[in-house]
Amino acid sequence: MPAKVSSFAFFPQSRSRIRDRLAPPSYVAYLVFIMLILALVVQYLFALADGHGPHGDDEVEAGPVDAALVEFTASGHIGKFVQEWPGKTELSEYPSSFTRGIEPKNIHSHNDYWQKVPFYQGLSVGAVSTEADVWAFDGDLLIGHEKTALDKKRTFRSLYIDPIVDVLEKQNPATEFVNNTRCGPFDESCYQTLYLWVDLKTGAEETWPLVEAQLAPLRERNWLTKWTGKAVIPGPVTVIGTGSSNWEVLIANKTRPRDYFVDAPLLKIGSKSEQMHADGKTPLYDSTSSPFATSSLIQAVGSIKGELSEKQLKQVESLVKAAKERGILTRFWETPNWPTRRRHNIWRQLLDVPVGLLNVDDLEDAAFGDW
Ligand SMILES: *[C@@H]1O[C@H](CO)[C@@H](O)[C@H](O)[C@H]1NC(C)=O
Ligand SMILES: *[C@@H]1O[C@H](CO)[C@@H](O)[C@H](O)[C@H]1NC(C)=O
Repeated sequence: MPAKVSSFAFFPQSRSRIRDRLAPPSYVAYLVFIMLILALVVQYLFALADGHGPHGDDEVEAGPVDAALVEFTASGHIGKFVQEWPGKTELSEYPSSFTRGIEPKNIHSHNDYWQKVPFYQGLSVGAVSTEADVWAFDGDLLIGHEKTALDKKRTFRSLYIDPIVDVLEKQNPATEFVNNTRCGPFDESCYQTLYLWVDLKTGAEETWPLVEAQLAPLRERNWLTKWTGKAVIPGPVTVIGTGSSNWEVLIANKTRPRDYFVDAPLLKIGSKSEQMHADGKTPLYDSTSSPFATSSLIQAVGSIKGELSEKQLKQVESLVKAAKERGILTRFWETPNWPTRRRHNIWRQLLDVPVGLLNVDDLEDAAFGDW
């Protein structure tokens, strides 16, 4: 039998094997290794001490903003001054600074509840649109893509409604200067609405009344975009039903104001098969029912190679144009994710058209990637 090459193991081993390993000359190797670790620890401690330098006494208390998060950009004393300023003065934060510095982007956080931190993660990269798949169960709404993913603690309320209220409370503070503002979640752009897509996984008739009821905390605070019967009044959150949502259940209801909208079928807009009102002339879907129309990209243009062909791009452009003539924006889902280069090509092409929202699974890549 050939001798086994011994390698560094991080898994539990039998005692006899450990004893084998401690036999010389590997004993010497262990000593060297331990000394190396010691050297690294000492170096680290010195670096720490250095950071607090000659002013070690006025050590910075952990202020509202972690001082260590401010990067050194200058080599003079001002570098250190800037780093320490937030903790020393506590003047760095202001009432609506929770989302400061986030540039809103036309990104839709597709299947957002798959992110480790639903809603907040998309918000933190600037996604103006998020999506919750909801299942009616026992009078509540559970969140998940498949039934296998459901958990009674992961609800529409706990993952979306409560967090959205939490952020909007911060962005709309009651102070001696202002009250009852209707700002969206982005500090940089008060008037940027958050699109909240509610993808019904169970029947609309059973599920939508639950959604409607659970929107109450947003409704009570006047934070929903609404249709009064005469005008669409924009608000911090625009709710759009999709999945099994349909015009009959969501839009036909004549109660006003209506504070939710429905996803329109993009492939039908302006086509011969478009659904009409009873008069046979007025289209069912318009900007008062639907801020957006969507379609699978594959269904719209067929299978895609490295990027959209000229013909496919023309098809996308004509769909976007038909929707635009109704005052409706567009989003294509089922956009290829891999290989990354293909995804990037298609993102570029779609944004150039431009589509209203980019359908995104990899939020970091879409927001900060070099594509
Ligand atoms: C806003 O409301 C609070 C609490 O009611 C009040 O103290 C404050 O003066 C109000 N601010 C303005 C600008 O009216
Ligand atoms: C219409 O909408 C209102 C409020 O959203 C709701 O209370 C009512 O039950 C709805 N009516 C029907 C027939 O769905």
